Amino acid sequence: MILKQPLPQHARTIAISSATGGAGCTTIAVNLACGMKKLNPDRNTLLVDGQYPFGTVQQFLELSSPVSRVGFPLPVDYAAYETADLDRLLMTSTSGVKVLPAPPYPIADYATSLTKPDVIARRLQRDANPFDIIVVDVGTNLDRSTTAIVSQAYALVIVLNQTPASVNGTRLALEFFSAAGVTSERMHLVLNKATKGQGIVDLNTIPHLFKREITSLIPTADATLLDTALLRGQPIVEMPGDSEQSPQKELMALAADLYGRLRE
Ligand SMILES: Nc1ncnc2c1ncn2[C@@H]1O[C@H](COP(=O)(O)OP(=O)(O)O)[C@@H](O)[C@H]1O
Ligand SMILES: [Mg+2]
Repeated sequence: MILKQPLPQHARTIAISSATGGAGCTTIAVNLACGMKKLNPDRNTLLVDGQYPFGTVQQFLELSSPVSRVGFPLPVDYAAYETADLDRLLMTSTSGVKVLPAPPYPIADYATSLTKPDVIARRLQRDANPFDIIVVDVGTNLDRSTTAIVSQAYALVIVLNQTPASVNGTRLALEFFSAAGVTSERMHLVLNKATKGQGIVDLNTIPHLFKREITSLIPTADATLLDTALLRGQPIVEMPGDSEQSPQKELMALAADLYGRLRE
């Protein structure tokens, strides 16, 4: 793909969200960004942690930054997140994906005011031009910033599992996003941690419940694979081994599918 004129930021943005925590949003976001980079190494790819104040993207990736994956301090203070050069905020993963961590929101203010400013949307508006692909891990965070990003993104992935809470939450999420202006063809249901058996909610009934197809079914990963990936700070799609193995295969297929839609 040759981008002569940069597409508007939203036309290069994929948002990953879910109705319930723990569904696998961050896992999917990290692996999509790294999977797209693997398929298109020349594409400048940005992964944004939009789940705050409790973002976890950094814990999934070994990042070239003095910030430890398992500790403090946060990379910058809150004021700096708004004003610092983007280069000061970005970290680079071993795969070459640039990572914008979640803003280190002052917890005390957050807890008392419950108003979250739209810092992420503002930063992206200002600074997204050098990036060909922008993957935003929205998680369950729906504030002004992420709703603005989601409502304009060229693709919105909604991650769900086969639990009643996740299925019901996803039904509401589809209604919410639709009301926020996301058109049906931009929404993609990704069923993560799919179990081969029927699971708590039967796989076959899910498309009927939502009256739409599941874009991708990501099987439950082997615990050893996940542990090793986390220990190394490496995305699943870059773990050594057979690329035909699940869930690497399904994650790469999803990355290829969503990248293909960007080119349309
Ligand atoms: N396909 C999968 N198979 C098995 N475990 C998974 C899979 N996807 C995610 N997980 C695990 O589920 C947990 C929650 O994942 P995470 O991506 O942090 O969810 P979320 O961001 O939605 O809260 C993590 O321990 C992660 O390793
Ligand atoms: Mg998460």
